[in-house]
Amino acid sequence: MIISEGKVKIKVEEGVFYNPRMRFCRDLDVLVWSCLDDRREFLDALAGTGIRGIRAKVECGYENVIFNDRDERAVEVIRENLKLNGIEGEVYNKDANVLMRERRFWHIDLDPFGSPSEFMDSASYSVKRYLSVTATDTSAFCGSATESGLRKYFVYAEMTDVYHEIGLRALIGYVAKELAKYEKGLEVLVCWAKEHYYRVHVRVRKSLRASKDSVKSLGYMLYCPNCLNRDFVNVGECVEKCECGSKFRIYGPIWLGSLKDRGLVERMLEKSNNKFVKAIYEELDIPMAYNLHALSRKLKINPPKVSSVVEGLKEMGFKASRVHYSGVVVKTDAKLKDLISLLNSQNRLG
Ligand SMILES: C[S@@+](CC[C@H](N)C(=O)[O-])C[C@H]1O[C@@H](n2cnc3c(N)ncnc32)[C@H](O)[C@@H]1O
Ligand SMILES: [Zn+2]
Repeated sequence: MIISEGKVKIKVEEGVFYNPRMRFCRDLDVLVWSCLDDRREFLDALAGTGIRGIRAKVECGYENVIFNDRDERAVEVIRENLKLNGIEGEVYNKDANVLMRERRFWHIDLDPFGSPSEFMDSASYSVKRYLSVTATDTSAFCGSATESGLRKYFVYAEMTDVYHEIGLRALIGYVAKELAKYEKGLEVLVCWAKEHYYRVHVRVRKSLRASKDSVKSLGYMLYCPNCLNRDFVNVGECVEKCECGSKFRIYGPIWLGSLKDRGLVERMLEKSNNKFVKAIYEELDIPMAYNLHALSRKLKINPPKVSSVVEGLKEMGFKASRVHYSGVVVKTDAKLKDLISLLNSQNRLG
């Protein structure tokens, strides 16, 4: 069967992986990649039908695209798909880890079944400038599969009311640690949590300085299950008790740095008036997030309108925004007690 996606045509065959539900993700990827400054080389390391690499070539104009899949049938389909789209590219039938140890690539895309952990070491060794990573084992990062997160990523998390914030930052923290082994640092270009997956695009720089800066952005989330207070500390900082007297739970290490390159996201918005990209753009670039439903349950009040809470916080002089990954979470630099007093006063009025 031949399907169309973006500006390309793809032969899809039973036994070769193609997930139509990831189309939105690939559309956004193409938008991200077309905004990058230097599109000289792209490795589709776990290519399946080759759809990502083919779209990178046709829609983003990468000079050289390299495809790889360890499955022979996938490689046959990739060759057919290159012909179908009238383009050329190198095609390999190797274990991706072997290929990434043999050669260094400018931009690497890792789109595995489930966890990227099997490929992160060799990708970190190989990558020169850009890395795009998918993880569909979100439960290992976000705290719903604590043991698995510890085992695969050495990240400790438990379920919180802002689990996607933690999950996405845990994935980026993990990527930062892997890159740091090879004296590489990262800056996040853009990332998102959606449905069953996380997607992260980062710019990589090879220097001791960059890798030091990057690991300095690692830290922990402090979470008080008693009063739902939360805070963040960088690695090496002291942890005090929560104001309510309970001990904080400590989750991480996670990435506490920026989650986007504003200029890049602006360029994305100029090219496409996508609502999801707009939500990413408007989201405050800080880790502090609160779940209004969880807080309302705790306070025994009706859940408020998220937009009026964001407005109320701004009127109180705080920064505040919605988030791209949930309709009931807000980000703000307000302390929990300020947010609670706003929620209570809006509840009395409403
Ligand atoms: C999730 S699919 C890729 C989907 C594709 N990127 C897309 O957007 O449709 C993962 C692919 O990785 C391949 N794969 C799994 N382990 C591999 C390995 N160690 N080396 C190379 N390819 C591998 C599988 O054969 C499969 O085609
Ligand atoms: Zn507390």
